[in-house]
Amino acid sequence: MTDADYMRRAIALAWRSAGHTRPNPPVGAVVVKGGKVIGEGRHRRCGGDHAETAALKACKSSPVGATVYVTLEPCSKPGRVGACCDALIAAGVKRVVWACADPNPTNRGRAARVLRKAGIATAHGICADEAAELIIPFAKHVTTGMPYVTVKLAQSLDGKICDNFGSARWISSERSRRTTGRLRERVDAIMVGAETVRKDDPSLLCHTRRNDDLWRAVVSRSGRLPRKAQVFTDAAKDRTLVFRDAAEAVRELGRRGFMHVLCEGGLGLARSLAAAGLVDEWITVLAPIVIGDGHLSDAFRFPGEDTIVVSASCLVPSALCGADVNGASCLVPGALCEAKALGIERKQRTKHQAPGTKHQVLRTKHQAPGTKH
Ligand SMILES: NC(=O)c1ccc[n+]([C@@H]2O[C@H](COP(=O)([O-])OP(=O)(O)OC[C@H]3O[C@@H](n4cnc5c(N)ncnc54)[C@H](OP(=O)(O)O)[C@@H]3O)[C@@H](O)[C@H]2O)c1
Ligand SMILES: [Zn+2]
Repeated sequence: MTDADYMRRAIALAWRSAGHTRPNPPVGAVVVKGGKVIGEGRHRRCGGDHAETAALKACKSSPVGATVYVTLEPCSKPGRVGACCDALIAAGVKRVVWACADPNPTNRGRAARVLRKAGIATAHGICADEAAELIIPFAKHVTTGMPYVTVKLAQSLDGKICDNFGSARWISSERSRRTTGRLRERVDAIMVGAETVRKDDPSLLCHTRRNDDLWRAVVSRSGRLPRKAQVFTDAAKDRTLVFRDAAEAVRELGRRGFMHVLCEGGLGLARSLAAAGLVDEWITVLAPIVIGDGHLSDAFRFPGEDTIVVSASCLVPSALCGADVNGASCLVPGALCEAKALGIERKQRTKHQAPGTKHQVLRTKHQAPGTKH
């Protein structure tokens, strides 16, 4: 096992804490002696043991003479708890290896000096890029006071975020929902616009994490919100905040120590955030499906009356994961199939209905492609 192997173990431990440590960073640590891991730990929540201390406490044998691997530069000034450098010195370890420097100006660059003065060997920069990814939200928050904002929107190939009934229910697939569900595991708050609450009534909770530290934020200028919506009535309702202004919402979440905010739509709120320069990361789930509204572009016009482009399972294209990218274009696998194969309700439009009215999902045989009414 190399330094990098032990560090990757520490990084994996740290990821389990992401979303639970605000306003502190998620950090993991591994204690190694005689080529064996004798202890490991992570910072689980603000006010709890830091990763190094947790790992030292968990040691099955004496850490005297051991090497400690930690994902972030150990703190050297006491904060809510004692400084980790002091704990490492007191434990008698021989060597301390960390991945990336602490972006917090209070600690940055001090650990090497403090530890070396106590006769402990140090090394840093091992798996630095992987470990830096862990603390992207923390680094932004600790240096600017603002949270890192990720916007996630699912859209069809023709750029729609909901069907013609206003529902976003079936745009993303089970698999893409699982993938993006993992995002909810590691954020501090999930934010949506009022129209999404009015149309979709989402719970915004996450079944694969502890929800007692996940907050929900709804942005509504009008304040016109359904009182019976899940976010206001379920078991986590005390952790739902309502804001009148999108930018103020982000600033206030930052003041409350939220480091990572996930905006899950809709387009109105996402645009407001983008216009205010508040979006750090934009994730598009591109479903290989065409929703259409009676005015399909040429690429999506087919002779069959209810044929649409769709993949059997609406995958998140692997292009989004970095593969299959050819320059700026990405490959979206798909096939032609019947709308009903997806379970999409397809109501025929009568001549009394204008395009885009709520009874029309796909063009029907009564309407030639691209016909204007
Ligand atoms: N495909 C997806 O990933 C996805 C995700 C979420 C939702 N959706 C779909 O998207 C649709 C809703 O999207 P939408 O774009 O119509 O609405 P939205 O973004 O959910 O909500 C828009 C509303 O948010 C409030 N708002 C937006 N910017 C604001 C600002 N700067 N300050 C204060 N309030 C602000 C306003 O609320 P008030 O009107 O109360 O003032 C505005 O009308 C739904 O049909 C839903 O199914 C799709
Ligand atoms: Zn510490």
